[in-house]
Amino acid sequence: MGGLTYFDFLAKFGVGGAHPGGILLTQNILTGENITENSFVLDAGCGTGQTAAFLYQQYKANVFGLEINPIMVEKAKDRFQTQKLPIQLIQGSIEEIPFEENSFDFILSESVLAFVNKPKALKEFYRVLKKGGRLIANEMTINKRLSQKEETEIMNFYAVDSLLLEEDWNRLLHGAGFHNIDIKAQPQALSHGNHAPEFNFSKNFDPELFIILNEHGNIVLKYQDVLSYRIITVKK
Ligand SMILES: C[S@@+](CC[C@H](N)C(=O)[O-])C[C@H]1O[C@@H](n2cnc3c(N)ncnc32)[C@H](O)[C@@H]1O
Repeated sequence: MGGLTYFDFLAKFGVGGAHPGGILLTQNILTGENITENSFVLDAGCGTGQTAAFLYQQYKANVFGLEINPIMVEKAKDRFQTQKLPIQLIQGSIEEIPFEENSFDFILSESVLAFVNKPKALKEFYRVLKKGGRLIANEMTINKRLSQKEETEIMNFYAVDSLLLEEDWNRLLHGAGFHNIDIKAQPQALSHGNHAPEFNFSKNFDPELFIILNEHGNIVLKYQDVLSYRIITVKK
């Protein structure tokens, strides 16, 4: 490949709800949270901003979006402007969050944490959450260890430094200082895809991105019994 990644595909195709279960699962999970118009909520790695928009529309919360990819930032900005949503969008990294400590009641990380330096990002999440604040994450998790060769194939495709079992997430979250750790397996496999797909295509994109899309399909099918995700909720 010419150096393009899975994230280039997501950005240029403008995939909204780019996490397992899509916006429908997000809405489902959030019904269990006590989000109000007084809540300060960070969508960490907000992509095109579909969840951030929902958080404002549904709860009138004070919503902030943080995203590293400039194409994603542009598309999220378009969404918020077009729909006149007062959401503050910041370009930056969840490994170095540009907010003060104790800023947020909720942080959402929908398929972002798995792709970064996890201890570093978790330390940042802990720092910017208020005491009693909650982190809600939807993250790639493997159901069992694979051979080195197989794990390398998956790690190379997603450009991640590690693949975590449920117990690895538990250990990391605990190590970052979080309490009330709840990690739930989901009935649907990654290969089921997103049932409410949304796209915002860039005008021009490299045809190679279709190869990446195809490779993603192959990986998800090949490892359908192993490559999975978990809904993680924890409290500071
Ligand atoms: C799988 S997508 C999920 C996007 C969004 N949360 C959603 O569910 O639609 C992962 C997103 O994380 C962003 N991302 C990756 N590394 C990041 C970092 N260090 N800081 C902030 N965002 C990051 C990517 O650019 C991408 O938009």
